[in-house]
Amino acid sequence: MSQSQSQSDLNHSESYPEGRRGFMAHVLAAAIGGFVGLVPFASGLAFFLDPLIRKRKGGSGDGFVKLPITVEALEINGEPQLVKIIMDKVDAWNTYRNQPVGAVYLRRVASDKVIVFNQRCPHLGCAVDYKPAEKNYFCPCHTSAFGLDGVKQNDIPPRGLDELEVSIRNNTEVWVKFQNFRATTPDKIPVA
Ligand code: FES
Repeated sequence: MSQSQSQSDLNHSESYPEGRRGFMAHVLAAAIGGFVGLVPFASGLAFFLDPLIRKRKGGSGDGFVKLPITVEALEINGEPQLVKIIMDKVDAWNTYRNQPVGAVYLRRVASDKVIVFNQRCPHLGCAVDYKPAEKNYFCPCHTSAFGLDGVKQNDIPPRGLDELEVSIRNNTEVWVKFQNFRATTPDKIPVA
C-alpha cells in the first residue's frame, strides 16, 4: 500500500468515531447493499427483455416443426394428406404449449421429396379443400382452385398456394417450417 493511500484511508477512518475498523465496516455494508440491490434490478431487467430475447431466438429453435407422419406413410404421387400443425404459441409475455396454429397439405413426389402447402387460401385466408375427382385444391369461400403443384387455376386468388420449406430428417421424419403469409397480395409476404 502506498504512503499516500495509507494517509487517505487514515483520513477517512478518522472521520468515524469507531476508527479504522468502523470505516471498513461501513465500506463492506455499502458493497453488500449495492449487490443486494442489483439482484432485483437484474431480475426486473430480464423480465422486461424476455419477449425480445425469445423473439430473437425465434421461439422454437430453427423454426421447423416435426409432423406426425413419416415419409414411408406417404405414397409416391399419391393424394395429398392434410396434417394439423401443433406448436407453442408465444405472445408478448406468455407461451401457450401445443396449440393448433394451422394445417398443411403434404404430397410425396419422389422417394426422398415431399412438397408441403399451407392450407390457407391466399385469396382471403379460408381453408382449402382437396378434391380427389378433380385432383385439385379448391377453396369453398370464393371458388379459387389450384393444381396439385399449387399453381392457381383461375383468376380469383392473387397467387398459388404457399409452399413451405421441408426438411427430411433421419431418412423418415418430415419437418416443416410453418409460416403464414399475407392474403390478397401476389407476393408471399410472411406474417407473424
Ligand atoms: S378465401 Fe379462398 S377463394 Fe376467397
